[in-house]
Amino acid sequence: MAILVTGGAGYIGSHTCVELLNEGQEIIVVDNFSNSKPEALKRISEITGRQFKFYELDLLNEVQLEKVFMENEIDAAIHFAGLKSVGESVTIPLRYYQTNITSTVILCEIMKKYEVRNLVFSSSATVYGMPERCPISEEFPLSALNPYGRTKLMIEEILQDLHKSDSGWSISLLRYFNPVGAHKSGLIGEDPNGIPNNLMPYISQVGVGKLEYLNVFGNEYPTLDGTGIRDYIHVVDLAMGHLKALKKILTSTGIEAYNLGTGNGYSVLEMVDAFEKATGVPIPYKIVEARAGDAAICYADPTKAKKELGWEAKFGVEEMCADSWKWQSLNPYGYEIKKKFIQV
Ligand code: NAD
Ligand code: WQD
Repeated sequence: MAILVTGGAGYIGSHTCVELLNEGQEIIVVDNFSNSKPEALKRISEITGRQFKFYELDLLNEVQLEKVFMENEIDAAIHFAGLKSVGESVTIPLRYYQTNITSTVILCEIMKKYEVRNLVFSSSATVYGMPERCPISEEFPLSALNPYGRTKLMIEEILQDLHKSDSGWSISLLRYFNPVGAHKSGLIGEDPNGIPNNLMPYISQVGVGKLEYLNVFGNEYPTLDGTGIRDYIHVVDLAMGHLKALKKILTSTGIEAYNLGTGNGYSVLEMVDAFEKATGVPIPYKIVEARAGDAAICYADPTKAKKELGWEAKFGVEEMCADSWKWQSLNPYGYEIKKKFIQV
C-alpha cells in the first residue's frame, strides 16, 4: 500500500516526501517538472536513504495517470501539483483553470474508479480573500481575489460536492499560510524560476548577492511599522501537518478544512530583522509602492488543526530564516548548482 504524492518534486511536496519516507511510508511521486527539477528527487533519497517510485507525467494526461493506479496499490493521495503564481494567474487564467481544476477533477475521477477515496489537498489562506480581522479561523467567509485564488476556492467546492455525492470520501483541505524555510540539511528548498514573487526567497537572494536590495511593498499599513503582516510557517512544520492529516483521513471519513499556520504574525521589516539576526547577513531594502491586492494583516487561528489533527508548528522565525539561508547559500543557483560550477 502506498501514498501517491502529486507535485512531489516541488517545494512543499519534496519536504513532505522526506517526512513520509522518514516515517516509513511507501510513496509514489508524480510530477511533470514544470516548476521543479529531477535533482530534488535525488536529494530526497540522499536525505532519507530510501528509494521510491517516480512517474514523470502531466496530471492532465488521464491515460498516463491511470497507469499509475493500475500498477500500484494506492491508499491515499496528497495532491500538491498545480500552478501557484498569483500574478501569472491574472495573465494566463485559462492555464490556471485547466492545470489546477481540470487536473484535480481527473485525479478524483481515477481515484473514484480505483476506489481510493482518501485525499489531502493543498489549499491556501488565499481562500479567505481580504480577511476582515485576524486571527482567521476556518469558518471565516471565503472569497477569491485573483484566478489562482479562485482555482483553490473552486477546487474546495468541487471536493465538498464530491463528498456530498459519496460520503465514503475522506478529504483534508489544508489551507497553508506563508510557507518558508528549508530542510535542515540544506539539500532541498524553494527554487523559484526567475525573480521570486515571495518575500523569503527574495530576501535570501538579496543575501546571496543575486539581487541588490529588497523592495518593501508599502509602509503605510495599519501595523506597528507600517509594513504588511503575515503568518510565516516553516516548510518542515507544514510537511508534518500533511502526515497528521493523512493519519486522520485514513481512519475516518468526511471533509474538513484546516489552517496550517503558526498563529503569529510578523511584518516585512520584522522578517528582514530576523533574517539579519539569524544569519549575520545584511539585507538592504527600499520602501516602494504597496502591491495591488495585498492584505495588511493575515495570520491564522490554528486551533482546529491542533485539536483535531494533533498538529502545531514547532519552528520559530529564527529557524525559518536560518534554514532558508542554509539552502540558499549552499545552493545559490538552486538545483542547478552543480551545472553552474562545471560551467565556471
Ligand atoms: P511548487 O511549484 O514548488 O510545486 C508544485 C509541483 O507540481 C511542481 O513540482 C510542478 O512541477 C508540479 N506540477 C505542476 N503542474 C503539474 C501537472 N499538471 N502535472 C504534474 N505535475 C505538475 O509549489 P509548492 O510551493 O510546493 O506548492 C504546492 C501546492 O501548495 C500548490 O498546489 C500550491 O498552490 C499550494 N500552496 C503553496 C503555497 C506557497 O506559498 N508555496 C501557499 C499555499 C498553497
Ligand atoms: C508577504 C509579505 C508583501 C515580496 C502569497 C500568495 C498566497 C500564498 C502565499 C499560495 C507581503 C511583502 C513580498 C517582496 C515585499 N501562495 N513583500 N516585497 O502575498 O502573503 O502570499 O504567497 O497559495 O496566495 O498571495 O506572500 O511572500 O508574496 O508577501 O514587501 O518582494 O511581504 O507585500 O506583505 P503573500 P508574499
